[in-house]
Amino acid sequence: MRVLFVCLGNICRSPTAEGVFRHKVRQAGLEDLIEIDSAGTGDWHVGKAPDPRTRVAAMRRGYDLSSLRARQVDVLDFSRFDLVLAMDHANLADLRRLRGSAGTAELDLFLRRYGAALDEVPDPYYGGEGGFEQVLDLIEQASDALLVELKGRL
Ligand code: 4NP
Repeated sequence: MRVLFVCLGNICRSPTAEGVFRHKVRQAGLEDLIEIDSAGTGDWHVGKAPDPRTRVAAMRRGYDLSSLRARQVDVLDFSRFDLVLAMDHANLADLRRLRGSAGTAELDLFLRRYGAALDEVPDPYYGGEGGFEQVLDLIEQASDALLVELKGRL
């Protein structure tokens, strides 16, 4: 099972989702069965580590994102991954446009499928520190639900 998380820059939300979900998958002993990656629809930050505000907020909860590097999503990702999960509606629209009819991946909003309160992970980039905590809260909760579903599929 291969899961790709996608946001705009691949330096805040989707690397957080990659790090949090990877942590939960490892805790469940499923790291050999579930492959995880993240990417951005944009190319501005390609090659960069996650935003320092994202890294600090994640580290406070025990997630080390320092080894991650941003990449841009590629049309081949719809063939490489089983599940492509977008952080917001704009990401989803961009992914649909890029995809055309390529690949067999399931494509949806991460929180529409697995979230509770909101259907988008709000972009924290231009906001205050609280935005990064909200990103973590939403992603931790949805990651638990995603893991339950994938366990049922394995
Ligand atoms: P992300 O956040 O999509 O969660 O990685 C952003 C990162 C960078 C920008 C916007 C959002 N930016 O405009 O550079």
